Amino acid sequence: MNQIKLQQTKIKVKQVLNPNRYEHTLGVMYTAGALAMRYHEDMYHALFAGLLHDCAKAFPESACFTLCNSFCIPITEVERKNPGLLHAKLGACLAQKEYGISDAYVLDAIACHTTGRPNMTLLDKILYVADYMEPNRCEAPNLGEIRRLAFEDIDECLYAILESTVAYLKQKDAVIDPMTEETYLYYKKELNK
Ligand SMILES: [Fe+2]
Ligand SMILES: [Fe+2]
Repeated sequence: MNQIKLQQTKIKVKQVLNPNRYEHTLGVMYTAGALAMRYHEDMYHALFAGLLHDCAKAFPESACFTLCNSFCIPITEVERKNPGLLHAKLGACLAQKEYGISDAYVLDAIACHTTGRPNMTLLDKILYVADYMEPNRCEAPNLGEIRRLAFEDIDECLYAILESTVAYLKQKDAVIDPMTEETYLYYKKELNK
């Protein structure tokens, strides 16, 4: 059942995403699957979270605002200025309504995959890490270390990603979503950094 649904969902996602985004999506899906094996997470939860995490990227930013309004998804001030952030919450909503995912554990992981959140579930962490380090990624300077850490200690890996993301955004003078900062500070304290 899960295998059939996964294949059907793959076909549907391939139809709506551009080829590069679809390649990235497959990379995240299989990386999340590998991390699920390593950390004894449910394999299908990880595969579906990876496959659907960027499903809202099928829409231009203007359409994301309209869709968020029609689904009554609240939009924060930061999201209004950075519409790219919206695809996480909207993606969780579409995963439920358009792709028939009913498991809140999977939907929540999709909803927080751009910013993280304090006290993340194992699946949240797996998706967040997989999104950053899947094999098609090449832009981050510390990818080698991140990929090594991911299979050694997922909390340390998560923290390393949050730290370099916050440092990168600050150096660029870009707006940081308060949730990213909150997540970073939460894990800094949690891991005694
Ligand atoms: Fe994303
Ligand atoms: Fe992504």
